[in-house]
Amino acid sequence: MTRHVDTAEVDGVRPLAPQEFDQIRQLAYRTFGLDLKSGKEELVSARLRKLVRGGGFRCFQDYYRSIVQDRTGKSLLAMIDALATNHTSFLREPDHFQFLRDQVVPALGARDPIDVWSAACSTGEEVWTLAMVLNEALPHRKVRITASDISNKALSFAQRALYPAERCHGVSATWLSRYFAAEGRPPVSYQIAPAIRAQAVFRRINLVESYSWPHPFPIIFCRNVMIYFDRQTQERVIAGLSQHLEPGGYLFVGHAESLTRVSHSLEYVRPAVYRKPGKKEAMWNK
Ligand SMILES: C[S@@+](CC[C@H](N)C(=O)[O-])C[C@H]1O[C@@H](n2cnc3c(N)ncnc32)[C@H](O)[C@@H]1O
Repeated sequence: MTRHVDTAEVDGVRPLAPQEFDQIRQLAYRTFGLDLKSGKEELVSARLRKLVRGGGFRCFQDYYRSIVQDRTGKSLLAMIDALATNHTSFLREPDHFQFLRDQVVPALGARDPIDVWSAACSTGEEVWTLAMVLNEALPHRKVRITASDISNKALSFAQRALYPAERCHGVSATWLSRYFAAEGRPPVSYQIAPAIRAQAVFRRINLVESYSWPHPFPIIFCRNVMIYFDRQTQERVIAGLSQHLEPGGYLFVGHAESLTRVSHSLEYVRPAVYRKPGKKEAMWNK
């Protein structure tokens, strides 16, 4: 006879109750914009269970209380890290990089340095892809990538820039030899070369809070994070990004993040590419 084993019996944590899910849902929404719709109970339970157990809590309610009471904010950051999706890859959504190289770079004229903001950069693959594409296209120009994410864990990984070989499968052999240092024979991992690493600076930014930059950017990549936000939050985030975009500057969003239902002030250029109205090519690069 098979016996039903309650999860609580196995690891000493009571299953996530509906009101506990609701508390966590509201906290995640308030603090980092994550829109956890109903139906995500299992995901929340699976992603947070380790933290609940690790903190010695018997139930999600106690765990939730400890986050709210933690003045250091560390428990909240750990919750955000556990709930956020960090999936990314080198050359993700490659037509964006093709458009950047073929259409945006020529319009940059003689600009030097070239400034790009990679917002919600996760573990850095997008940052280094941008650096490599711009170095290829403009070998004698200074490239400056400003990279941000809400997650300190993701930012540390991105800064270390050391990737297991299987995460570099999409990268050409030429780029691997030009921009990476292989470790092991055959390589088990690749680290981004110091000259490329020196082109990026990292900063923790929560896109749903206010932040500031000393200057606007001609190019912003903010991809595959707004998909986790509701329309209201998307509008707020787009308004923030637009404010930090130069007139004539380009915003790249994820292909799954159409802004058709979102009210914003940008011009549609092509799928997942928008432009801030203002200066056109002839003036933009001056
Ligand atoms: C799926 S990854 C996207 C990575 C990369 N942009 C790409 O398209 O491959 C989403 C990232 O958004 C970050 N994130 C989630 N909420 C955020 C917020 N409120 N502010 C800034 N970053 C956030 C997560 O930590 C995660 O690293």
